[in-house]
Order: sequence, then C-alpha cells, then structure tokens
Amino acid sequence: MAPSAPRMTQAEAQALCRVAHRESGVAIAPGKRAFLEMRIGRRLREIGCEDYRHYLQLLEGPGGRVERAHLVEALTTHTTAFFRERAHFEWLAEYGLPALLERGAGQSAPLTIWSAACSLGSEMWTAAMVTDRRLRGLRPGSDWAVIGTDISRRILRKAALAVFSADEIADLPEDFRRDYLLRTRAGPRPARFRIVPQLRSHARLAYANLVNLSPALMLTADVIFLRNVLIYFSHEDQRRVVSQVIARLRPGGYLLTGHSESLTCIPDGLRQVGSSIYHKE
Ligand SMILES: C[S@@+](CC[C@H](N)C(=O)[O-])C[C@H]1O[C@@H](n2cnc3c(N)ncnc32)[C@H](O)[C@@H]1O
Repeated sequence: MAPSAPRMTQAEAQALCRVAHRESGVAIAPGKRAFLEMRIGRRLREIGCEDYRHYLQLLEGPGGRVERAHLVEALTTHTTAFFRERAHFEWLAEYGLPALLERGAGQSAPLTIWSAACSLGSEMWTAAMVTDRRLRGLRPGSDWAVIGTDISRRILRKAALAVFSADEIADLPEDFRRDYLLRTRAGPRPARFRIVPQLRSHARLAYANLVNLSPALMLTADVIFLRNVLIYFSHEDQRRVVSQVIARLRPGGYLLTGHSESLTCIPDGLRQVGSSIYHKE
C-alpha cells in the first residue's frame, strides 16, 4: 500500500506560501491547502522528506537555496500555446512591427522582442515566426532577436530544446508549421517538431525573476510580452514588476499584458493603444 501523504497544517501552509512569495512573487492563498499539498507533496515524495515541518527546515536551512528553487518549480504553472491571445500577434504584424521600423528600430541594434515569462517558449517562437515573416516583406535582411526569460530553470531547459509535440503545436496554422518546423521523428513513435535552425539563430533564453530583475540581465527590448504571469502576483508586486520591466522597454516600444491583466493604474510614460497594449512615449 502507498504510504499516506503527509497533511499540511494551516501554519505550515502559511510558512510555505511566505517562502514561495519571497522567492518568486507568486502569491498563493494559504487556504488553498489541497493545491499546496498536491504540488508540494509530490516534491516531498521525490526527496523522501517525511512531513512539511522537516521540509520547512530544509528550505530555511543551509543549502536551502536549491530547495527553494524546487518549491517555486512546484508551485508555478506553465500553461502556454502558440498564437495564444491571437489578436496580439495580428497587431504585431499589422501595426507594431511597421510602426517600430518607421521609428528606426532595428537600425543601431536588433529589433528585440522579449517574452518575459516564456514558459516552454511558444509565445517567443510565435513572435519570432510573425517577425521573420513580416520583416522579410517590410525590410528584408533586418536584424532582429527574440529573448525568452523565466524563473523556472526546468522549463528553460525544455524550452532550449525548441521541440514540441503534435498537441503543443495544435494552434499553429499549417503555413507556419511548413515554414518554421521540422519533424524530428519518423516511424511509429509520436511525432515531435523542432523549430528550424534559421529561427533558432535569432533566439536566446535566460533565467530572470521578474520580481527581482537582476541588473546583470543585459536586456532592453522594443516589444515586451508580459502575459499571463501578473495574475500570480499581489497588486504591489504587479506594480513593481511592471515598473522594472518598462525600464527595459526602449522608447517608442510596446508592452503587451495578458487580456485578463490590463493595467488598472497605467504608469507615467505609458499610453494604452489597444486591448492590453501599451506604448512607451
Ligand atoms: C502561465 S505561464 C505564461 C506563459 C506565456 N507568457 C503565455 O502567456 O503563454 C507563466 C510563466 O511565468 C513564470 N513565472 C512565474 N513567476 C515568475 C517570476 N517571478 N519571474 C519570472 N517568471 C515567472 C512561470 O514559471 C511560468 O512559466
């Protein structure tokens, strides 16, 4: 019989949520005990830790930094898809990229798009495909780059492979699959698809914690996708994240938030120009 899962007390739930919040900004209500037990219980079993009291000691003890990263891994959600919230990509092709080129983006530095909580990279690759296709028409030979960052090193390792299952590319239109994916497995095994080398040569992935952006992250961008991540933060952390992120947005650039994450208080210097699209003057 499988050993019974340890139960979490309210005090332990509060302490674990405090650690997760301190490390990542992710704000989980301690009342969500079933969720916490499911996600963190898995980790306890993996490392053979008998209960949450001992786990908390491990988190706060010497060497706890590594385990705190595992806690964040356990509590973050990585749902993503190609062409998620499609209107943003249509806007990028029809309006965003032409407007940026007109303002001189891509002349002294590559036109840069940052997917600031990139998960598996579907958002970054969608932006890359749209940019590649559009710039070929508008200004062939333009220099451009996409950068994906995330707090989860595990998801970044997967993203670096740039390999997707048939389910993961379900939302990618046929002509984009034809131009930008290579089938990696023949035969009876489930098909896998890899982003073509030409697109991969424009991309970079890096670790970044949005609630505490390191000055060592040398990055400014013309377009920043900050989507479906703000919802995990408290209002105070959301404001802090937005202000740190827009400090890295180049003048004339655009910030895109998730459709359900419109900024309630628009910071100075930003102007809303579309549904969850903001322009830096
Ligand atoms: C739901 S996914 C969103 C992916 C993509 N932006 C999209 O809209 O499809 C949220 C991502 O945010 C990342 N994340 C959570 N907290 C973060 C933080 N403090 N800094 C950076 N990334 C974070 C998670 O690891 C996860 O990959």
